[in-house]
Amino acid sequence: MITSTEEKILLNIIKNNQGKIVNKDFSYPLLENGFDETDILRGIEVLLSRKLTMSQITEKFERNFAKYVGSKYAVMVNSGSSANLLSAFALVNPKKENRLRSGDKFLIPAICWSTSLWPFIQSGLKPVFTDVSKKDFCIQVDELDNKKLKNIKLIVSINILGNSPDIKNLSNLCKKKNIYLVEDTCEALGSKMNSKSLGTYGDFGTFSFYYSHQITSGEGGMVVCNKKEDYEILRTLRAHGWDRHVKNRKQNTFNFVNSGFNLRPLDITAAIGISQLKRLNEMKKIRNLNKVEIISCIKNHPEWNNQYEFFEARKGLSPSWFGFPILLNNKYRQKKILLMKYLNQNKIETRPILSGNFLNQPSVSLYNLKPKKNFNNAQEIEERGFFIGIPTTVLTNQKINYLVKKLMFIERI
Ligand SMILES: Cc1ncc(COP(=O)(O)O)c(C=O)c1O
Repeated sequence: MITSTEEKILLNIIKNNQGKIVNKDFSYPLLENGFDETDILRGIEVLLSRKLTMSQITEKFERNFAKYVGSKYAVMVNSGSSANLLSAFALVNPKKENRLRSGDKFLIPAICWSTSLWPFIQSGLKPVFTDVSKKDFCIQVDELDNKKLKNIKLIVSINILGNSPDIKNLSNLCKKKNIYLVEDTCEALGSKMNSKSLGTYGDFGTFSFYYSHQITSGEGGMVVCNKKEDYEILRTLRAHGWDRHVKNRKQNTFNFVNSGFNLRPLDITAAIGISQLKRLNEMKKIRNLNKVEIISCIKNHPEWNNQYEFFEARKGLSPSWFGFPILLNNKYRQKKILLMKYLNQNKIETRPILSGNFLNQPSVSLYNLKPKKNFNNAQEIEERGFFIGIPTTVLTNQKINYLVKKLMFIERI
């Protein structure tokens, strides 16, 4: 531990350094200066301890995180992708009661992230794609009839950009039909449906702490679950299949009780995560306010002519936005590529809505996974949609005006 005098000196150095990296230009990145002084100080403290590898700090973050989202257990890993990998392999693990078997089918929306999909395929399961809703880009729960769910043993639902599908009905449906549910919540930490955190409706919830997510530790991820059996499997698979971190282990033996990976996080990322988690509610509030301000400013622009469609949170959801999704009005659709180029040239960072329609990706063709039918909503979202970041500090009028001016330039493109 550092002394309070040392802490003051370090904070001064960090503050001076923060001043140097603040971007004075007009720009609108996905995330600006995502770490505050305390985050950096907590990271330095771990470095000074010379003990970077996973230990009690990671355990503390796991406890704090489980408490925050309201799950019994949380297991930290080195990325959101690793969180998905662990849940996929936990579901097929021989130690799991009623485990999934090789060849079992899982349902996944056509708008997904690469590592929302591949870990489940890598664990031996077979994907069945389904279209998404145009309202929230998530899985369309009211379309999941008996025909669609035939032989489905798992649903991987993705809470996109902070929004949610009809998660209560999805979770009830899965319980009724004995279908496992994994909620990929890598983009929605802090979002709550009827006061219950997204990521806690399913058997596993996965989270990412990569740059520009609701909290960031550079890299990092978390899996949450409520069953002790799952928790023990996750912890064993995370580190070599070794029983080192399992309660009541045989002491001092190299006892490899399961298959395994090495997906351990570093304590330095856990320390930064603990610090960021304390600020999550405040950052969520500011992101909400910034989003409302931007929309209001665009809609009050003299040239406003419904050029864009904006998105509200699903009813009952207290959203924690990851980004600000925008759909071009159908009659501006052809301008999307030029608009993205123009915004990026003007230092406004943009991204597709997740990956767009994932079925268009070369990796899907490489593995012959492309279904014959088209997913019209996913395709439309790819062709008309994009997102920009929402800062975690209150946007100045100057910055909002800059952003709005550039967005309204669409009329001249
Ligand atoms: C929905 C979703 N799942 C998984 C991931 C992977 O997370 P990571 O980048 O931490 O591996 C991401 C990344 O942004 C994501 O958006």
